[in-house]
Amino acid sequence: MKPKVYVSRLIPQEGLDIVLSACDAEVNADDTPLSHDELIAKVRGKDGLLCLLTDEIDDAVLGASSQLKIVANVAVGFNNIDVPAATRRKVLITNTPGVLDHTTADFTWCLLLASARRLAEAERYTRAGKYTGWGIMLLCGEDIFGKTLGVCGLGRIGRGVAKRAQGFEMRILYTDAVRAPAEVEQELGAQFVDKETLFREADFVTLHVPLLPETHHYVSVNELKLMKRTAHLINASRGPVLDEAALVLALRERWIAGAGIDVFEHEPRMAAGLTELDNVTLAPHIASASVETRTKMAVMAATSLVEALQGGRPANLVNPEVLA
Ligand code: DGY
Repeated sequence: MKPKVYVSRLIPQEGLDIVLSACDAEVNADDTPLSHDELIAKVRGKDGLLCLLTDEIDDAVLGASSQLKIVANVAVGFNNIDVPAATRRKVLITNTPGVLDHTTADFTWCLLLASARRLAEAERYTRAGKYTGWGIMLLCGEDIFGKTLGVCGLGRIGRGVAKRAQGFEMRILYTDAVRAPAEVEQELGAQFVDKETLFREADFVTLHVPLLPETHHYVSVNELKLMKRTAHLINASRGPVLDEAALVLALRERWIAGAGIDVFEHEPRMAAGLTELDNVTLAPHIASASVETRTKMAVMAATSLVEALQGGRPANLVNPEVLA
């Protein structure tokens, strides 16, 4: 008998095909998340769950099926899952690391370039028919070439962002809980500094820290006040890493020049006043959204799900202690 699984949202067909070929799968054909209660009802009697970061996988969801063996999250971040509860219940959790690093680093640069050169504002201006002639100070932004980039979190994505900065001949500063190996620093030309120095000296600060209790509001009033008035803040990591109300204040009162934001504290809602500001470039959590990458993520999660349900050790296990 095939294992019973629930797929909580539509995913790219290549991933779905892997699930359908090996499992008795029920799929939420709607591209909208289920409510918590609906999800619990769907998980009842299932051996596996393939879910997205919009699903809150708490103890109640994990306990909805006594035979639940695996939850495969189609995302590298897994802050939507109560991992300790899963481990207690001996449910395997997998994520999708590695396949989205380049795409996310590319998009971080989209935000950085757009923010520095006021691209979204310029687009709105042009579309609104306001362009009546060239002006020497029209929509002037900040240069990027030769400036200082501050990377918070030099993991895979942070490194990708720093690598791309070499093409702009930037000075690269980074800060992290753990210093990177000397060869990584050398290859990237990145200098390890403390957080305060980074926020004071960088022209562009980009956030790539994971969301953990200790990184909640990693950037708030203090950090924003340290930044240069000409500096830009980019966040394509996780929303709660940045105090969004403080960002609104900083942008409104011009403590900093601009921001590029892909993730929000309470998605899909945004802090009051954020969308009214011209000096912020906003995106709806799409940093990894290329067709190729989203397909790879779905295939990776589906493969892990099937591996676990066939009795193997799935790749990308977040809680390997379940198998110990
Ligand atoms: C992730 O994978 O964690 C991203 O936020 C969505 O791709």
